Amino acid sequence: MQRKCTVVAQALAIIAAGTFATLAGAAPSASDCAGCHKNITEQNHGSAHKDVACSTCHTDLEKHLKGEVKRPGTNNDPALCGGCHKDQFDSLYKVNPKKQARKSKTAAEGPAPNPFYARALGGHGFLFEHDEPRSHAFMLMDQMLVDRGWGGRWVPKEGWLYAAKGDGAIKAWDMVKDRWPGDNLQKVRGLPGTAAAGNAVCWTCKTTDPMLGWAYLGDPKPGTSFARTKSPIDVMRASNHSLNCNFCHDPHSAKPRIVRDALIAAVSRGDTVYNEGKNWAKVDVKDAGVRGFTRKVGYLSRPDSKLMCAQCHVEYVCNPGLDPKTGKKVGFDSQLTNLIPFQSPAKLEQFYEKVGFADFVHPLTGAKLIKMQHPDTETYNGSKHDQMGVGCNACHMPKVKKNGKTYTNHWATSPRNYMKETCLTCHKDKTEQQMNQVIDAMHNHYVGKVRYAEARMGEMFDAFEMAKAAGVSEEVLAKARKLHQTAHINWEWHTATNGAWFHNPEASAKQLDIAAKSAIEARNLLRKAVAEKQKTAMK
Ligand code: HEC
Ligand code: HEC
Ligand code: HEC
Ligand code: HEC
Ligand code: HEC
Ligand code: HEC
Ligand code: HEC
Repeated sequence: MQRKCTVVAQALAIIAAGTFATLAGAAPSASDCAGCHKNITEQNHGSAHKDVACSTCHTDLEKHLKGEVKRPGTNNDPALCGGCHKDQFDSLYKVNPKKQARKSKTAAEGPAPNPFYARALGGHGFLFEHDEPRSHAFMLMDQMLVDRGWGGRWVPKEGWLYAAKGDGAIKAWDMVKDRWPGDNLQKVRGLPGTAAAGNAVCWTCKTTDPMLGWAYLGDPKPGTSFARTKSPIDVMRASNHSLNCNFCHDPHSAKPRIVRDALIAAVSRGDTVYNEGKNWAKVDVKDAGVRGFTRKVGYLSRPDSKLMCAQCHVEYVCNPGLDPKTGKKVGFDSQLTNLIPFQSPAKLEQFYEKVGFADFVHPLTGAKLIKMQHPDTETYNGSKHDQMGVGCNACHMPKVKKNGKTYTNHWATSPRNYMKETCLTCHKDKTEQQMNQVIDAMHNHYVGKVRYAEARMGEMFDAFEMAKAAGVSEEVLAKARKLHQTAHINWEWHTATNGAWFHNPEASAKQLDIAAKSAIEARNLLRKAVAEKQKTAMK
């Protein structure tokens, strides 16, 4: 196996380097690079990838060695890795046929049904299109097509027939086209019901294609092609592949890693679930930048799927907002616009107050609120399974056997799609049917709690309307506003997170109870103040 791969590597190397030289000594070897790229060649030395030539993935190396080309080409296509790791590649881009495209979370049966959701989110951009997640293969394309992102700039080449796409890796540019290739304007043009809220940080959770042109946290350093403050359109144009392998595997050492900068910042910070929790791998943060700006990689002491998935399945900020204390705008010049708080449910509200960030002001109540993004890892953290040391991969990336060989199935989907390889490996006394019943029961119970919190918040909004009409004092409104803030963050967490009913039913029940109780308290406070106003008016 090892030898076969080496030959493949050399063959690929020749193709990649575009030379017709003979096999022996055809491509530059790691020792030709060691003088200037010691950080890389040392990682590569003795690793599982020691026999994979540099020229397998990099082009123009001869010219680079002669100093004619400053930056040799880097191939970031997962299919390149797939050439030697077919099972992992094929499974990563498998599609879950039960999940549909463009399925709104705000549909009647969805996790955040309208009209309540629209009322609670005020005028926030997520109202334009907020969909349920589907398979990883689609992530970049779906991000380009979503109505709230780009004002209708990117459209599917084939029209709605694009929704027919099934298994297999997708190159976004095979599927979408740019309606205005001649300009970089990020605005709504002629497409009703869209917003242009997409920004330069979005790619960090979809693709690694632009990574070599991006400094740590997207700071606008000299020599970078992209930055938080630069054109989001350029970043999207440079993005083609979904969930590249090098999000989780270092191409040079083949060792497990994380690259999402805001997560690296979070685990380095010292006030997160990472520092509080157990069962996390150690993260060894190194600066990999050789081009005049910092680019950090977090090498893991072992493959820790919780950290790998936490690169995206977390609550994060990727947009401008405001300082809740002063009301002043927080723009892309602030690192707060690329932030992963990585907080437990109990600490998130306080965390945002401390760092001074809110996403939007609620038009009715005036509360300064957070738009939550899928805090899946924070929800799972501390659950019964987590305490037993069960990682995300045990239920979403099971080890499977094919022709007597074991490999990791990279198809992350609902475990209902491979119950035998996941749940039943530990719960040996149960059947598939029984475990489906268990998940259904947990889901049912949870949905009841979410709807209850929404109903109480609805009453709170009614009370706000009455209180404002009655001219209730600012002091009372301010108290109620603070309660709205608490209700909002604990409820909205659950419209955004995925699988919370199963991941951590205890934590979810607790949070939804806090949401409902805060809403009730605000409602009662406002109703009482309105009644008092009416009494004085009668006198
Ligand atoms: C004489 C020193 C030197 C040698 C030898 C050298 N490099 Fe480089 N390499 C550099 C420098 C300097 C840069 C950064 C150029 C810049 O952006 O200013 C660089 C950049 C790169 C990049 C980054 C490309 C990008 O898009 O930013 C890659 C990949 C690379 N080198 C691969 C190699 C490989 C593979 C070898 C061996 C075959 C090699 N280099 C040998 C000096 C060297
Ligand atoms: C299996 C594919 C693959 C092989 C083999 C490979 N590289 Fe890379 N290399 C990449 C990718 C992908 C990147 C983009 C950065 C990343 O993923 O960390 C990269 C980035 C680089 C960079 C830029 C680092 C930075 O952050 O500025 C250098 C330098 C480099 N490689 C050198 C080498 C050298 C030297 C070898 C041979 C010893 C080599 N590469 C072999 C895939 C590969
Ligand atoms: C030319 C063939 C080749 C290419 C291309 C290649 N690999 Fe590998 N890879 C190997 C070989 C050989 C091994 C060691 C034996 C094995 O595990 O099959 C390996 C091992 C690995 C391992 C297991 C490491 C371990 O310590 O167990 C991972 C993960 C990996 N590769 C990821 C990647 C990724 C990601 C890419 C693309 C950036 C890639 N490989 C590209 C040949 C290749
Ligand atoms: C979201 C993170 C993630 C991404 C993206 C990812 N992998 Fe993995 N990979 C893992 C995990 C987790 C394991 C299991 C590690 C373990 O338990 O030892 C793994 C294991 C592997 C292994 C070791 C052999 C095996 O099957 O257990 C190879 C090889 C590999 N991956 C290749 C790839 C390739 C090729 C791609 C891209 C097509 C890729 N991976 C993308 C997380 C990822
Ligand atoms: C680079 C970001 C990223 C990483 C890393 C990542 N995901 Fe995802 N994941 C997404 C996005 C984005 C979607 C939704 C894609 C869409 O709807 O087009 C998604 C969707 C999913 C889904 C829904 C799939 C379905 O069949 O409905 C599951 C399950 C999932 N991810 C689990 C995981 C697990 C487990 C890991 C870690 C092993 C992981 N993801 C790593 C971004 C990521
Ligand atoms: C012990 C098993 C288990 C573990 C561990 C686990 N999950 Fe899940 N996950 C589930 C179940 C069960 C569901 C609900 C699936 C359903 O109802 O169809 C789910 C749902 C999801 C979904 C939504 C899938 C969809 O189709 O909408 C995502 C995303 C997800 N999990 C990510 C993660 C991440 C990230 C981790 C680790 C931090 C993780 N899960 C850990 C069992 C698990
Ligand atoms: C790696 C092993 C492992 C996997 C995989 C696993 N579990 Fe568990 N599960 C456990 C352990 C250990 C416990 C704790 C048992 C105890 O406390 O008695 C547990 C407990 C549970 C409980 C009781 C928790 C409670 O709060 O009442 C449920 C329900 C459950 N698992 C369902 C599932 C389902 C469904 C899957 C697949 C999606 C799954 N498990 C996958 C090991 C596993």
